[in-house]
Amino acid sequence: MELSRRRFLQVAGLGTVAASGALSLVGCSGSGDGDKGSASASTGGSDKPVIFYNRQPSNSSTGELDMTTLNYNKNTYYVGFDANQGGELEGQMVADYIKAHAAELDTDGDGMIGYVLAIGDVGHNDSIARTRGCRKALGTGVEKDGAIQSDAVGTNTDGTATVVQDGTIKADDGKEYTIRELASQEMKTSAGSTWDAPTAGNAISTWASSFGDKINVIVSNNDGMGMAMFNAWSKENKVPTFGYDANSDAVEAIGQGYGGTISQNPAVQAYLTLRLLRNVFDGVDINTGISEADDAGNVLSEDDYKYSEDERSYYAMNLAVTADNYQDFLDATALYDGASAQLDADTKKVWLSTYNSADNFLGATYKPLLKKYQELLCLDVDYVDGDGQNESNITNKLGDPSAYDGFAINMVKTDNGASYTSILG
Ligand code: BGC
Repeated sequence: MELSRRRFLQVAGLGTVAASGALSLVGCSGSGDGDKGSASASTGGSDKPVIFYNRQPSNSSTGELDMTTLNYNKNTYYVGFDANQGGELEGQMVADYIKAHAAELDTDGDGMIGYVLAIGDVGHNDSIARTRGCRKALGTGVEKDGAIQSDAVGTNTDGTATVVQDGTIKADDGKEYTIRELASQEMKTSAGSTWDAPTAGNAISTWASSFGDKINVIVSNNDGMGMAMFNAWSKENKVPTFGYDANSDAVEAIGQGYGGTISQNPAVQAYLTLRLLRNVFDGVDINTGISEADDAGNVLSEDDYKYSEDERSYYAMNLAVTADNYQDFLDATALYDGASAQLDADTKKVWLSTYNSADNFLGATYKPLLKKYQELLCLDVDYVDGDGQNESNITNKLGDPSAYDGFAINMVKTDNGASYTSILG
């Protein structure tokens, strides 16, 4: 029986020496050629690990989790971040900014602060949580069936919309201001791509040309759209713009007037996405290198993520990035401090999809992190990018699942888990 490299080092009593890097033995072995040679016995057939990430299998109308997909086999998990905590944090960041700067934001002195909101995807849990978090913190949300509505309002410069209402905020200077959501729109192309940055750039230009003097704050469900709006209009017009993701370009822009962003702890997510695969391949406890340190010393702090057994989901925790701390977040692709040590393991072959090659967060932040972690975790990853519109553009490229040891999936639409699991068998 062939011993894996890691097992060999343990048997030989060299594990800790190897982990410290004193021996050149540490590293990856084998070519990672899927079932055709390297798949471990414990992950054969339909028990191969399947990690959904960033787009949680769920009903895009109700948000209800798709537990059939999440329980596809015993090695199926979701990796994302705590969408509600993040959405509330973004809303709070905007509200705190308004409270501290209300008098200067209210340029025409009418006691009203107007904002516009860029919505990413009305059927995506993350997007919904951010819209709700913003409306909740600013007092503009209107509840329906026990939850704040997250639909786009269109234009509401006169305050007559019913999806939102005018809110009130007491500023730090003691004065009360009315807060109005002047407009919001899902940033979707006519071909169907969501979270679309160019669409957001066009939207702010259109809004600004008809009611620009009323726009005091811009809120965006992500930095890709936020930066498009910043570059198209708000930088020049000095209107604070808030986004989400803490992509490097957005963090840097905080020094030039971008209002702030939220880090969804992408290093933790990229690590978890690949680490869960690794742990299944190795047949070790699923929390190795996560809640428990591995042989190389990799471990996550319990403050940075949580696991919900019922939801089969790992969630990274979010952090607010503002003018006060942005210097610490300038490199969005920096590895997680406690989990950056090389493993000593057999290389395994992974198929990984992203829903849209044009997505800013996945392209600029998540994928570069995956590429760093795949080396440390001895994974040979085939990346497949979609067009953001049709699931089949991705699933077509999964012709031979038997060539892979495991799968990491980012769907175009959160409802479509079965499009993948049906191919996996
Ligand atoms: C990110 C967005 C991204 C989306 C893609 C979200 O979690 O914040 O920037 O466009 O995921 O699914």
